[in-house]
Amino acid sequence: MCGIVAYLGDKEAQPLLLEGLRRLEYRGYDSSGMAVLNGKGLEVVKKVGRIQQLERALSGQPLHGTLGICHTRWATHGKATEINAHPHTDASGKLAIVHNGVIENYGTLKKKLSDKGFQFRTETDTEVLAFLIGFYFDTLNSETENRLEMAVMEALREVTGTYGLVAIHEDQPGVMVGARRGSPLVLGIGPHEHFLASDVSAVAAHTQTVAHLRDFDVVTIDRNGYRLKSLSQNQAGLEISQIEYQSGVAEMGDFPHFMLKEIFEQPVSIQNAVRGRLNLEESTAQLGGLNLNPQELREIDRIVITACGTALHAGMVGEYIIESLAHVPVEIEYASEFRLRNSPMDRRTLVIAVSQSGETEDTLGALREARRKGHRVLGICNNVASTLARETDGGVYMYAGPEVSVAATKSFTSQTIIFVLLGLLLGRMRFLSASQGRGIIEAIEALPDQITQVLKQSSHIRDIAKKYSHSHSMLFFGRQMQYGIALEGALKMKEISYIHAEGHPTAELKHGIIALVDEKTPSVFLCPKDGAYDKNINNLQQIKARKGPVIAVATEGNEEIVQHADDVIFIPEAPEYTAPILSVVALQLFAYHMAVILGKDVDKPRNLAKSVTVP
Ligand code: G6P
Repeated sequence: MCGIVAYLGDKEAQPLLLEGLRRLEYRGYDSSGMAVLNGKGLEVVKKVGRIQQLERALSGQPLHGTLGICHTRWATHGKATEINAHPHTDASGKLAIVHNGVIENYGTLKKKLSDKGFQFRTETDTEVLAFLIGFYFDTLNSETENRLEMAVMEALREVTGTYGLVAIHEDQPGVMVGARRGSPLVLGIGPHEHFLASDVSAVAAHTQTVAHLRDFDVVTIDRNGYRLKSLSQNQAGLEISQIEYQSGVAEMGDFPHFMLKEIFEQPVSIQNAVRGRLNLEESTAQLGGLNLNPQELREIDRIVITACGTALHAGMVGEYIIESLAHVPVEIEYASEFRLRNSPMDRRTLVIAVSQSGETEDTLGALREARRKGHRVLGICNNVASTLARETDGGVYMYAGPEVSVAATKSFTSQTIIFVLLGLLLGRMRFLSASQGRGIIEAIEALPDQITQVLKQSSHIRDIAKKYSHSHSMLFFGRQMQYGIALEGALKMKEISYIHAEGHPTAELKHGIIALVDEKTPSVFLCPKDGAYDKNINNLQQIKARKGPVIAVATEGNEEIVQHADDVIFIPEAPEYTAPILSVVALQLFAYHMAVILGKDVDKPRNLAKSVTVP
């Protein structure tokens, strides 16, 4: 899982490649590297760690040349070491490739090449691919036109697995060859230059004319332009489109971390998700992008929501919201499970794929499987230029703006409010009266101010975090619509503070989890005033009876809770379908402050990546 940028044009490649790479850092950041072709031949520089390490190395010793490739890595095969970083070279050292994806049969290919006498330097699947392409390159006559293209195609015919890749070779100095299967690769077309990259953000500052390669496409770029071939029978031309360019990388402003900035953006990002989507006259929501007419919406009799990570937790809250507001049965499925499972669904089942990036491999796999079976798939997504946005039948954009911090925050609340909008829309076509619809709209409109109320407690939440910063383990409990928040609160805590944290449905604590309770293990109890409140208080007392410290997230004005809990974070009074958005903001701040107190790298936690583009 990695990011690729390649350049061939009339400018110096290095600064353009580095700039593109910085925009792809969300795809992984354990090592990076660059290769440039120039009069001296192939020059390669690789570094372990963040892209700044590579920048530092290159600032002392720049690579000159107008053709180059680079890569930011998230280790799949082989540790995050310099030697395992990309670009990988072949046995001759003249060919270099960058690769995103997984070569599943690399063991077999490695054996085949080892039997021919090749000796490998790394444990990576990409090096095997580099050797294989190099092997075919060397078998071709040096006069062969398209030698690199032919070698790439020959090698890829033997490959099982996924790849977005770019290859260059010292003996064909004005050429780069890109290929795609499963992992995205975008061609950027400029007047005297071409780019290949994992996504448009890496090229958008230089050209807005792009084409997304399709599976099995092989594109060869030289000084005269590009040429497309295919490893399948499909020889159709590329679909060229114009993208919108928003200048500037997201800035942190006065905030010390992107995560805090994004937490504090939520009053606005919620407004952006809702803007133009409330129909006050008819007390409903309007979601034009669904591409479904009222009859089709009325016919939906089951919804399957599929996603990964934080987006999955938003889907879990969405399941309760839609069932409660619209009475349509909803199931939530891990995308990684759903894509492999043969879940029975009839033709009136709607599938909704949720993803901030729109590039998560498992979520794309799930949506493709559903579409293959003829189901209509909608997307809830932030990145309008993403694969998910292109491959779904319709959907709802979040308009949350760039989310840079690896730990997702504002995307979660935007996804959740979109489920409220969907619940309202579907509900108003079924059981909800106009006055009930109005009530929901009022609750939605109250949210930005209510989120601001929670944000004002940031320093109080920091004090609580400090008090519990020596904990090795934490438990998070919530029921119904707060259950997904318990999972999300625990996920945030482990992602950025590395404290072991588990989320559970509150009542389950009696069935095993209570064995973990002791004086040193705090429990976060989500217990706003709702239908489950009394039951929650019973459970809370079961923890207190075992001397477990309790941090309650409760509704403002609830004076009784102070007697039961050791610490309380109050959230404004809200109906059960918007209250999760308020309680999650409190838990985002809790995790954030904990990570800062513990001195962790908040925006780029260890071992994680913003977007997981491998299965
Ligand atoms: C990774 C990120 C998570 C994110 C998940 C799904 O695991 O680290 O923060 O929730 O992917 O990402 P998506 O872009 O599909 O919402």
